[in-house]
Amino acid sequence: MLSYQHAYHAGGPADVHKHVALALLLAHLGKKDKPFTVIDLYAGEGDYDLTHYAAQKTGEFLSGIAPVWNAKGAPAAMQPYLSAVRRQNPDGALKRYPGSPALARAALRGDDRLILNELHKTAFPNLGRWARKDERIGVHKRDGLEALVALVPPTPRRGLVLIDPSYEVKSEYDDVPAKLSEAVRKWREGTFVIWYPVLKEARHRAMLERIREIDGDIFCDELAFPGGKGLLGTGIVAVNPPWQFDEAMDEAGAWLARVLPRCKHRSTWLRRAEG
Ligand SMILES: C[S@@+](CC[C@H](N)C(=O)[O-])C[C@H]1O[C@@H](n2cnc3c(N)ncnc32)[C@H](O)[C@@H]1O
Repeated sequence: MLSYQHAYHAGGPADVHKHVALALLLAHLGKKDKPFTVIDLYAGEGDYDLTHYAAQKTGEFLSGIAPVWNAKGAPAAMQPYLSAVRRQNPDGALKRYPGSPALARAALRGDDRLILNELHKTAFPNLGRWARKDERIGVHKRDGLEALVALVPPTPRRGLVLIDPSYEVKSEYDDVPAKLSEAVRKWREGTFVIWYPVLKEARHRAMLERIREIDGDIFCDELAFPGGKGLLGTGIVAVNPPWQFDEAMDEAGAWLARVLPRCKHRSTWLRRAEG
C-alpha cells in the first residue's frame, strides 16, 4: 500500500528544483509550432493548497517556494517556473502551489497532449477531478514504470516524460534505470527527466551509474543541503535535453543556491555525444 502523499511535501526544496527544470523544458517545447506530448508518470494531485493542514504540518514549503517567492532579482532561467507559480497566486500572496500536472497544463496549446498517471487510492480520484473537462488530458491509474514503457512513443511524438517516484519502494532505484533504458530505446527523440532524492544511504549513486550506461546525452543537476536532516539534496537527470538546458539549469541553480537555506548547486554531464 502506498502511504506517501505529496500534499505534505508540495513546494518544498525538491519540488522547486524539479519544477524549475520541468518549466524550462516545457517552455522549450512551446517555442516550436509543432504539437507536443507531456507524460507525467507520478503525477500526484495536480495542484496544492499551502494553507491546508498537510503543507502546514511539515512546513516544507517554508524552505522551498517561500524564500524563492520573496526573493528579488531572479534570472531569466527562473522565469518560466515563477510565472507558473504567479498564475496560481494572482493576488500576490503565496497560497497555492502548482504540481507537475499544473505546470504542464499551463504550457499546453490546443493540439498538445498531457498524459497523467497516478496509483495512490486518494490521489488518483483527486487528480481525475482536477483534470476533468480538459480534453487535452488523459488520466491513467497504473504502475508508473510499467506505464513508462507502455506509453512511449506517444502521439504527438515530440515531448517529454517526467519520472518522479516517491522511492518508497527501494527496488525503484534499480527499476528506474532498467525501464528507462527500454523506454529511451523506444522513443529516441523524447526527453526523459528523472527526479531523485539524496539521502544518507546514497542509493541514488548506483542508480546514476546505471543511467549513465543508457545511450543518449545525459545531464545531471543537484542541489545539496549539507548538514540537513533527512533530505541531503535533490537531483534531476535529463536524458536527451534540448540545447542549452545545462546553461539554463546552471543559471537557475546558482541563484537558488543563494536563495534557499544552506544550499549548494552542482551539475555535470554523465554522458554526452561527441561534437
Ligand atoms: C513525488 S510525488 C509526485 C509529485 C508530482 N510529480 C509533482 O511534481 O507535483 C510521487 C507520486 O507518485 C505516486 N506513486 C507512488 N508509487 C507509484 C507507482 N508505482 N506508480 C504510479 N504512481 C505512484 C504517489 O502516490 C505520489 O503521488
